[in-house]
Amino acid sequence: MNKLKIGIIGLGTVGTGVVKTLKNVDSVEIVKIAVKNINKPRGVELSQGILTDNPYDIINNPDIDVVVELIGGVEPAWEYISASIKNGKHIVTANKELLAKKGEELFNLAEEHNRVCLYEAAIAGGIPIIMPIKTILAGNKINKIQAILNGTTNYILTKMDANGASYEDVLKEAQELGYAETDPTGDVEGYDAAYKITTLATIAFKQRIKIENVYREGISKVRKEDMKEASELGYKIKLIANASIDDNGNADVRVHPMLVSQKTMLAHIDYVTNAVAMSGHPIGNIVLSGPGAGEFPTASSVVGDILAIQAEFGKTDYMLPMMRCHHSAKANPVNIDDTFNKYYISITAPNAIGVIAKIGTICANKNISLASIMQKEVLENNTANITVITEKCQERLIKEVVNELDNCTVNSLIRVAEG
Ligand code: HSE
Repeated sequence: MNKLKIGIIGLGTVGTGVVKTLKNVDSVEIVKIAVKNINKPRGVELSQGILTDNPYDIINNPDIDVVVELIGGVEPAWEYISASIKNGKHIVTANKELLAKKGEELFNLAEEHNRVCLYEAAIAGGIPIIMPIKTILAGNKINKIQAILNGTTNYILTKMDANGASYEDVLKEAQELGYAETDPTGDVEGYDAAYKITTLATIAFKQRIKIENVYREGISKVRKEDMKEASELGYKIKLIANASIDDNGNADVRVHPMLVSQKTMLAHIDYVTNAVAMSGHPIGNIVLSGPGAGEFPTASSVVGDILAIQAEFGKTDYMLPMMRCHHSAKANPVNIDDTFNKYYISITAPNAIGVIAKIGTICANKNISLASIMQKEVLENNTANITVITEKCQERLIKEVVNELDNCTVNSLIRVAEG
């Protein structure tokens, strides 16, 4: 048997999981692994001389068939990947940021050189989602995705809900336990999920989505009081990556916190688990869930991609046709202000006659109907907390409502998922 020869760039958590997993796979040989520091102790046994601190020992090595890029970020990953493709290597990557920002260039370059670039691990870690969309779901017209694509934020929101704790306290604990990074911005402000939904929506809709058109809000403003009020109203708050497309190619793609009904599956996806709910024809509704990160779940996807290449390597001149990039059409972006949503609004108002009537009138004047309004009591400081859930209305109008509630404090405005 001719072994597929691979080089791995990056030996962090995912790289280590890949090396450990490939120890049980006879058909793949790791020729070289590029790391920053070859003297650093590693959590896996490595053969003598396999490590290098020069990625070009892999990129320029004529014996290597596939380059596995596991360093993340745009540069120098793009430099290494593009040089590898030009040198005739196939690519396996887990790099969601690179795909979101340079996907079009990357896939055009790969096609030009008749090489494949597989990236199952980049979206939702261990959940098989890219290959299913490209192969067995290929006959579908998928028009809606709602997903939990970031484990760190889902862990924080789940803990806030379970313990009645504040965002700041849970983040600190998550950092101590290693669930959140020292600089958590990429996760908590929704960048990571935005990168993932950009690529996921692009392949599901078969239309290019640009990262600059993806609206993004993180979870750092979600208050413990919002979690409690949402729970009492039959919802959970989750960071949801949403994407929908209409028949004219207008795509609404965004990441932000949402109230999701406790009757839906997404409300019960807890801690670091990820999930992707999709609707399309003829499949109907499906939900895939599982581990979105971690050494072995992510290694599962990386190794699956390596083996997909191995299965066809040397047997065809045009490998893995269904896994290639087929979409040149570009979706028309929908501005967030033009979208229609239901809203949760938490208001602190002075205890005065007519306050609730005024909230109702401001909404009524904009043709916004209220689904529920709740005030439990008057507080000692003569204010009251009022929670409103609206029916579906345009984002632009709800922002006007917030501006017009001038004698009240709007504590939170969070979109509510349908269903
Ligand atoms: N940082 C990501 C998360 C995992 O928290 O889910 C890697 O994509």
